[in-house]
Amino acid sequence: MENRVISSRNLQEGEYELTLRPGRLEEYIGQDELKQNLTIFIQASMARKEALDHVLLYGPPGLGKTTLAHIIANELGVSIRYASGPAIDRPGDLASILTNLNDHDVLFIDEIHRLSRSVEEILYAAMEDFALDLVLGKGPAARSVRLDLPHFTLIGATTRPGLLTSPLRDRFGVILHLDFYEARDLSHIIDRSAKVLGIPIDPDAAHEIARRSRGTPRVANRLLKRIRDYAQVRASGQITHLIAIEALDLLNVDHFGLDQVDRRLLQSIAERYQGGPVGLETLSAVVGEESGTIEEVVEPYLLQQGFLQRTPRGRVLTLRAYEHLGIPRSPGLFEGDAPAQ
Ligand SMILES: Nc1ncnc2c1ncn2[C@@H]1O[C@H](COP(=O)(O)OP(=O)(O)OP(=O)(O)O)[C@@H](O)[C@H]1O
Ligand SMILES: [Mg+2]
Repeated sequence: MENRVISSRNLQEGEYELTLRPGRLEEYIGQDELKQNLTIFIQASMARKEALDHVLLYGPPGLGKTTLAHIIANELGVSIRYASGPAIDRPGDLASILTNLNDHDVLFIDEIHRLSRSVEEILYAAMEDFALDLVLGKGPAARSVRLDLPHFTLIGATTRPGLLTSPLRDRFGVILHLDFYEARDLSHIIDRSAKVLGIPIDPDAAHEIARRSRGTPRVANRLLKRIRDYAQVRASGQITHLIAIEALDLLNVDHFGLDQVDRRLLQSIAERYQGGPVGLETLSAVVGEESGTIEEVVEPYLLQQGFLQRTPRGRVLTLRAYEHLGIPRSPGLFEGDAPAQ
C-alpha cells in the first residue's frame, strides 16, 4: 500500500497518537449520544460496586475505539489489559490473560472479529459466568474443572461487526456504534491537538482541515501534522487558511477529503466499467489495494458520502461521484444514483 496520508495504521505515528489521545470522557470530543449513555452505565456500575457490563465498540478505523476503551478504564479507575484478536494464538494464552486480571479490570480485545474459534469458545463462559472450563487429562480419564475468574469487563473493538459470531455478540451488554464525525467536532479535535503539540493555527484553517478529514479524527491529526511540516518549511510556522489549502492541495487531498486512492477507485469504475457494477476483487486488482483495505478503510466514507453504492452485483458509481470527478456519465447504466447535495 502506498504511503497514504489517511492510511489506517502507521506505527511511526504511535507515539504521536499517544500524546493526542484524550484520557477522560469529557475530553473526548463528539459522539455525544454515545458519551451520555456510557456515562450513565459507568456511574451506575460504580455505584453498585460491580464490574461494568461487557462493551462492544464498532465502527470504521480511526474513529476512537481504542481511545474510548482506555477512557472507560480510566473513568472506572481500573487497570486495562490490551490484547489483539489475531495475536491470541491458543486457548491457553487467553486463559492466562483471564486468570491474571483483577476484579473489575478491563480486558480490551482489539480486532475481536479475528479471534480463532477455540479461543472464542473460552470467552463464552468467561463473559457469562466469569468461569474458565478446563479439561484435565486425556481420553477416558479426562475430567473438566471449572475455575472461577475475577469479575472483569471485556471491551471488544471491531471495524467489521458483521464478522462476529452471534453467540459472541449476544454476550455484550453494551453495544456502541461510532459514526463519522461532523466537521464541527473535527475542528475541535484539531484545535485540541494543535494546543497539545504547540502548533499555531487559525480557526478557519482548522475548519478547512476538518472538512477534508473524511470524518475521521486519526486523519485530522495526521493531516495537521503534515500541514505543520509545510507551514514550517514554506512559511513562518503559523497554519493560516491559505497555508492549509496549499498544503492540502500538495498532499492531493481534495475538497471532500478524497485522496489519490479514493479517486483512482472511483475513476476506474467510471472509465473501465462504465460505472459498475464491479466486484470487490476486481476493484482490488485494478486499484492495487487489498480487498480488505478497500472494504474497511476506503469504502465506508465513499459510501457514507454517497459516491458509491453497494449492490448485490458489485459496486456502482453514483451521479455525485461523476460530478465530483468531472466525468460525463455514460448513459443508461445507472441503478445507484444518489441525489447530489
Ligand atoms: N473523540 C475524539 N476526540 C479527540 N481525539 C480523538 C477522538 N477520537 C479519536 N481521536 C484521536 O484519533 C486517533 C485515532 O483514534 P483510535 O486509535 O482510538 O481509533 P480506533 O477506532 O481505535 O482505530 P482502529 O480501528 O484503526 O483501531 C487517536 O490519536 C485519538 O487521539
Ligand atoms: Mg484501535
